[in-house]
Amino acid sequence: IPVEPFVLVVFGATGDLSRRKLIPAMFQRDAAGQLPEGAEIFGVSRSKLDHAEFVAQAKAAVEEHVPQAERPALLVERFLKRLHYVAADATGDGGWAELAEQLKPFKDRVVVFYLATGPALFGPICERLGRFGLADGDARVVVEKPVGKDGESAHAVNEAISRVFPEDRVYRIDHYLGKETVQNLMALRFANGLFEPLWNAAHIDHVQITVAESLGVEGRAGYYDTAGALRDMVQNHILQLLCLVAMEPPAHLAADAVRDEKLKVLRALQPAQEHSWVRGQYRAGASAGGPVPGYLDELGAPESQTETFVALKAEIGNWRWAGVPFYLRTGKRLAERVSEIVITFRPVPHSVFGEGAGPIQPNRLVIRLQPDEGVKLWLMIKDPGPGGMRLRPVPLDMSFAAAFNARNPDAYERLVLDVVRGNQTLFMRRDEVEAAWAWIDPILEAWSQAPEPPKPYTAGTWGPSAAIALIERDGRTWADGA
Ligand code: BG6
Repeated sequence: IPVEPFVLVVFGATGDLSRRKLIPAMFQRDAAGQLPEGAEIFGVSRSKLDHAEFVAQAKAAVEEHVPQAERPALLVERFLKRLHYVAADATGDGGWAELAEQLKPFKDRVVVFYLATGPALFGPICERLGRFGLADGDARVVVEKPVGKDGESAHAVNEAISRVFPEDRVYRIDHYLGKETVQNLMALRFANGLFEPLWNAAHIDHVQITVAESLGVEGRAGYYDTAGALRDMVQNHILQLLCLVAMEPPAHLAADAVRDEKLKVLRALQPAQEHSWVRGQYRAGASAGGPVPGYLDELGAPESQTETFVALKAEIGNWRWAGVPFYLRTGKRLAERVSEIVITFRPVPHSVFGEGAGPIQPNRLVIRLQPDEGVKLWLMIKDPGPGGMRLRPVPLDMSFAAAFNARNPDAYERLVLDVVRGNQTLFMRRDEVEAAWAWIDPILEAWSQAPEPPKPYTAGTWGPSAAIALIERDGRTWADGA
């Protein structure tokens, strides 16, 4: 179903996010017939490009990031006609009058300002959007994560945004919420009667959330070194996943109903304890493609103590979850790219089988977010054959690729159009972001005081051995490749 005509104005239009995600996502929606006549896309950045140069960059982005079979030349041409470019300075007034002038004919459309820039520019850009009369009416602003670098700066950034845009027109993106499989978490929990009665401390032993990447910092070392894994991944993506696993069923899917429930989870997080985290940094090692350098070599700064890996044990202090650890981990240059949530149920209270049957392993529900999206439920099954009762874990295995013969759209395709539709359900509200920082801040504070640097790990492994010890101390193991 096409959305209403809109104007998308992307700040940071020549940057990495725009090239890799936003332009390809908009092309895909256009190709799918969802962009109506009159949907226009403005690129804005400091670079003094002319229209043709910007269009050439956008075309290259589509060619690089959309598979050839999905981009017939005619559709690419049609898409490129929607593009405009204006050079404007986020921290000065240069170019803004021109931008305002160019947007004038579109006053009656939904206008979306997408700030694909660092958080330091959110305030200055919003201030100018206000001053140049661009934030009026129904205009919306989208900001990328991370919002700030700690609670205090996030508060300041949110204040600056709120001086110009009311909360119901602010869309804080966490692209994990736009992933198909992440939305499926809600379907799995709330559209099936099977799991919800068991979804609590009485039946669940622990939860693991892993977002492992095999790539390194890929040309983003400048940004990454100021962030690190805790700010880059845990404060937002991983805590959002934890919220979706742990929240109470909302009454309905309206934005505030869902966000109220997530907020309660964030506020119920117990302060992390010193012995419940491990931070790491990769050294040279190997990936599937061959040898890879260490983080410090990639960065060119031998002193950096930025973590490229973090493992944490989180606990939620409420009736549903008290005593159920949530083990969280994420890192760059790990053994494989895999994001998954593993729910391990409690073991059976008593075995009726003799020793010869083998150990009875607890049931596990594995929600694989990427790649090979799917859901597996591990059950104990009798090994076939007349040789007596031998047990073995076997999965009930649902693969999205096999069940649905459809392309899995990128999260940004869904999320940008949700902004046009005015649907904030999959966006973070201000109080959520600030509550997430309130849990992260003491960890950052402890790290800044800690005399010891992050623990080294070899690229291509599962992180420092201390991360394995973190969970094994509790008599559990990471469910690698479950
Ligand atoms: C981004 C982080 O938010 O998410 C990156 O800044 C990370 O460092 C990326 O690589 C991972 O996203 P995805 O969709 O590839 O899992």
